Amino acid sequence: MQNVKLIDHPLVRHSLTILRDKNTDTETFRRHTAIVSQIIIMEASRKCKLSKKTIETPLTSTTGYEIYRSMVFVPVLRAGISMLVPARDFLPWTPVGFIGLERDEKTAIAHQYYEKFPENIEKKLILVLDPMLATGGSVSETIQRLREKGGKRIALACIVAAPEGIRRINTEHPDVMIYTTAIDDHLDERKFIVPGLGDFGDRYFGT
Ligand code: PRP
Ligand code: URA
Repeated sequence: MQNVKLIDHPLVRHSLTILRDKNTDTETFRRHTAIVSQIIIMEASRKCKLSKKTIETPLTSTTGYEIYRSMVFVPVLRAGISMLVPARDFLPWTPVGFIGLERDEKTAIAHQYYEKFPENIEKKLILVLDPMLATGGSVSETIQRLREKGGKRIALACIVAAPEGIRRINTEHPDVMIYTTAIDDHLDERKFIVPGLGDFGDRYFGT
C-alpha cells in the first residue's frame, strides 16, 4: 500500500471507538464523526499555500497569514455529507461539488445517480469526502468523473479504509493521496469493512 496517511491521535482513537460501537446513538455518532472529520481535514489541508499579510494588532503591526482559496470539496452522497459540515467550518469559502453513488446491496457495485461539480477545477486541490473506503468502487468512480471534468490534484479524506479499497485506488489512481483514521482488516462476503462500523449512512442519518 502506498500514498496513504494514517492519522493516529488519542482523540481519534477515542472517537473511533464510539463510532464503531453498535450501541452508539445517532446524536453521539454525529458528534464523533465531526470530531474525527475535523482532524482529518487538518491533516489533508497541511499543504495549503499561505500568503503573507501585514495586520495591526491593538499594540503594533505584525505579519499574518492567509490561506489561498485553492480547494474544492466533493462529498460522495450520501454519507460524505457528514464530513462536509466539519470541513466547511475550517474553510467556509470552499466551493463544493456533489456526486451521488449508491452500492447495490447484492453486488456491492456503485451506480451513479447525481453529479454537479464547480467550474474551473483544473488548478484546485480537490478533496473527496467519503467516510468509508470499502471496495473502492465509489471513490474510484468519483475520481474518474473529476478527471473527466479536468480535475488534476485529487486527494481522499475517509474515516475507515479497507486494504482492498486502498489497493484499488493505488492501482487505478496512483497519484491520489488517501487520508484515513483507520486501516481495517478486510471486507466480508457482503463487502462490508471488518471490524468497521456497519453502514455509515444508515447510522449517521438514522435510517
Ligand atoms: C457507502 C459509503 C461509500 C461506499 C463505500 O455508501 O458511504 O460511499 O459505500 O463502498 P465502496 O468502497 O465499496 O464503493 P452507500 O453506497 O452505502 O450509499 P450511502 O452513502 O447513500 O449510504
Ligand atoms: N459502506 C459502509 O457504510 N460500510 C461498509 O462497511 C462498507 C461500505
